[in-house]
Amino acid sequence: MSNVTVCARFRPLSSKEIRDLCVRGIDPETFVFQDDKEDEFTFSLDRVFYEDSCQAAVYDFLALPIMIDAVNAINGTIITYGQTGAGKTYSMEGPGLQDCDEHKKGLLPRVVDGMFDQISSSKDIASFTVKLSMVEIYMEKVRDLLDLSKGNIQIKENKTQGILLSGVTEVPVSDSAEALHYLSTGLANRAVGETQMNISSSRSHCAYLFTIQQDSDKDKRTKTGKLILVDLAGSEKADKTGAEGKVLEEAKTINKSLSALGNVINALTSGSPSKANHIPYRDSKLTRILQDALGGNSRMALLCCCSPSTSNASETLSTLRFGMRAKHIKASPRASEVKSAKTQEESSSITKDEKCGRILEKMKERMSNEDIKMLEEVFIQEGIIFSPDSIEEVETAYEDVASKTIKSLQQTVEELLLKIKKLETDNKGIQEQALRNYVPDLVGKMPRFISSWYASFFTS
Ligand SMILES: Nc1ncnc2c1ncn2[C@@H]1O[C@H](COP(=O)(O)OP(=O)(O)OP(=O)(O)O)[C@@H](O)[C@H]1O
Ligand SMILES: [Mg+2]
Repeated sequence: MSNVTVCARFRPLSSKEIRDLCVRGIDPETFVFQDDKEDEFTFSLDRVFYEDSCQAAVYDFLALPIMIDAVNAINGTIITYGQTGAGKTYSMEGPGLQDCDEHKKGLLPRVVDGMFDQISSSKDIASFTVKLSMVEIYMEKVRDLLDLSKGNIQIKENKTQGILLSGVTEVPVSDSAEALHYLSTGLANRAVGETQMNISSSRSHCAYLFTIQQDSDKDKRTKTGKLILVDLAGSEKADKTGAEGKVLEEAKTINKSLSALGNVINALTSGSPSKANHIPYRDSKLTRILQDALGGNSRMALLCCCSPSTSNASETLSTLRFGMRAKHIKASPRASEVKSAKTQEESSSITKDEKCGRILEKMKERMSNEDIKMLEEVFIQEGIIFSPDSIEEVETAYEDVASKTIKSLQQTVEELLLKIKKLETDNKGIQEQALRNYVPDLVGKMPRFISSWYASFFTS
């Protein structure tokens, strides 16, 4: 079981910050942090990057191994986290995505270049298809940055593919230049505003999603790796940023979703491992989109971006504590959808049929009190959905099972109608036979009212 890679990065002091550094490095992993009351805290992470560290060093340590794994179909997620103005977007993008000084290029363009290099060196093994999507979470709505008409993308969950963005634009990209062109177009649509802490402050969380599919001719296998890069909006205090009006509203939403992220990390890393405790993924769009990554189905790297100034000590301390917590997430990334083209169809049809059979049996047993609650129970037992709270999931699973249920019920009704017809014919024969054998005799002996009652019984 491999854990999450957590690094800290201290940016250079800004022109507004006084020259009192709060960090003293001990070795590549360990440093001493001093807060504004001069209390000292020692932190040990996977790697610490200081103000003189270059973008390439961060990429090589934090992102390169995850990018290589994603090309080999192991899902990966890379997140930049930290206070506003701490260097998240600088680390993720650099000063720009295209035509940028090679030395200053951020993680995203390096990942894109590296991914296509990796793909071309593996082309003799398989053929690759890369698709790109790009969304931002702005004011708790997921917006498609490659198609602004999709302003409220729904998040759905599917047992085989995990978390999905319903209807999101996916553009096929065949090389690095094409991918960077789309990424730049999408980025121009991202919400950015000016605050006293950052003249170019991200007002939304931004996720760059790559789906890398490889089809091998040799063994007819298809593998898919998902790679997600997330540049979070930063936590902020209104008195420092001077936020008011719309910017203040944005800040409140950003802080709320970041605290939801903190709650998810706390829930994942506290409590006994044997006891399944509730993880509040649904408390924000951010945690919902990151559910697979946080839940351990994906390799994850977290870059905790920090100011090196004592004036931001409390925010830095909270960023570092968040990183320490995240280190304890247990991850067990696995290759996704690794199946040969032939057996994929066979095995999926068998398991689906079995599942449907079991669901139908349970539904038939309880037809009289059939309701949504029962459907949810069945879906969860069968692993089609993971929680009963979401109407979206119930709808998705319902669509899948309901059509099969209706078909099966129609068949049952048809069988019943045939049986009824046969019984009616049999009954008519018996009735005629009975009348032929006994009625003349009985009618002769019985009082008139009994004979008429007897005749009406057979004809009804
Ligand atoms: N490692 C670094 N080297 C040089 N400049 C940096 C570095 N990190 C950040 N900066 C500069 O600091 C400023 C703030 O950085 P950035 O916009 O990346 O912050 P952020 O964490 O994304 O903030 P927000 O949450 O408000 O979006 C920018 O002007 C950026 O160029
Ligand atoms: Mg930013």
